[in-house]
Amino acid sequence: MRTGLMKHSQYMEFLRSVPSFKTLTEDVLSKVADVLEETHYSDGDYIIREGATGDTFFIISNGQVKVTQQKGPSEEPVFLTTLSRGDWFGEQALQGEDVRTASVTAVGDVTCLVVDRESFKQLIGGLENVGNKVYESDEVKAKVEEEAAFFSL
Ligand code: CMP
Repeated sequence: MRTGLMKHSQYMEFLRSVPSFKTLTEDVLSKVADVLEETHYSDGDYIIREGATGDTFFIISNGQVKVTQQKGPSEEPVFLTTLSRGDWFGEQALQGEDVRTASVTAVGDVTCLVVDRESFKQLIGGLENVGNKVYESDEVKAKVEEEAAFFSL
């Protein structure tokens, strides 16, 4: 119990420092701290595999991850970005379709705080910058599709 309480306040302190969560109330952050699961990964571990189904949201509390995406079935994965402490990922599969849009692998030792779909929806998903996150490549794709649809009318 004592350890539990210490962990809880440690999580709270960290969650308060996450820039995207700055509008969340103490009450909500406390609930997030209650439900999250701490998970550990080693260098090269897949945290998320593109194309798999998923229902978890990840906040990096330590280390670095690499995000990659395959543009076609037989193509090499393309590097998209690295994310580190205070960054989060895995929200795409929790919006609508539950398919992972990219792969995420650990670069060195990584610790993530993992939130399940239901808690995400209730506590975090309402944040504009998280729940409605659109990556530039998707935005560009949507625009191109929109234009194509317009010209085919
Ligand atoms: P999800 O699709 O659930 O799992 C893979 C995650 O990688 C995805 O959620 C996003 O959090 C992240 N991701 C996908 N595309 C990009 C991108 N273009 N740039 C940065 N991160 C991305």
